[in-house]
Amino acid sequence: MNFFDWFNNVLDKLDKRSVSIKKTIDFLETKKDPIIILETGCLRKIDSFTGDGQSTLIFDKYVQHRNDGSKVFSVDINPAHVDICKSVVSERVHVEVEDSVRFISKMDRYLDKKEKISLLYLDSFDVNWLYPFESSAHHLKELTAAIPYINKDTLLVVDDAPIAMQGYRDEKNNFKLIKNASIGGKGYLIHEYAQSVGAEFYFSHYQIAYKNLTK
Ligand SMILES: C[S@@+](CC[C@H](N)C(=O)[O-])C[C@H]1O[C@@H](n2cnc3c(N)ncnc32)[C@H](O)[C@@H]1O
Repeated sequence: MNFFDWFNNVLDKLDKRSVSIKKTIDFLETKKDPIIILETGCLRKIDSFTGDGQSTLIFDKYVQHRNDGSKVFSVDINPAHVDICKSVVSERVHVEVEDSVRFISKMDRYLDKKEKISLLYLDSFDVNWLYPFESSAHHLKELTAAIPYINKDTLLVVDDAPIAMQGYRDEKNNFKLIKNASIGGKGYLIHEYAQSVGAEFYFSHYQIAYKNLTK
């Protein structure tokens, strides 16, 4: 089956990620040369489109469709999850068991000096929505480790990073916003960093994306 026929069928199942995954594939479509996708946190449940997103499967099918030598790397700390992932993706996806920060820091094993990551997709350490700091710190460490391997054209996508607002209800029970919208979940600290370095906001849905993170 043609990739886009398959992809259009799964878009509805992707639910809250549908719009952002579509924009991510649209972005990759603008790349003429072979692309490199680096993902943290691999597919761990078969057919969990609405729950986790099945990102590894989508990227695998997409690079198969390109058939131009594009590569997908994925890393997960849990060997059982890597086994499940390997059972559904093709051998085009290089999946390893390791801590993601350590794995990314050694990407020079797999990339030539001139090769840069086209899509950095961060979705590892599960977020505790009531205390997102640990998870968001881990994702910031992943971005830190990836800096030597990205350039201004790299698209960074962080999963589970919706808008976070603070407010209260007035006497008529109307919601009053008391703070400018920020980003929560896995993207909480990456968003602060991206703002500080003047990165370009590419999209903000349930997932968040930036470009121009480096000069
Ligand atoms: C939300 S799941 C990934 C879902 C997948 N991206 C998808 O769309 O189906 C998060 C994964 O991150 C992994 N993980 C947690 N901490 C990690 C770490 N320090 N390094 C690498 N992987 C980690 C977990 O084992 C889990 O499989």
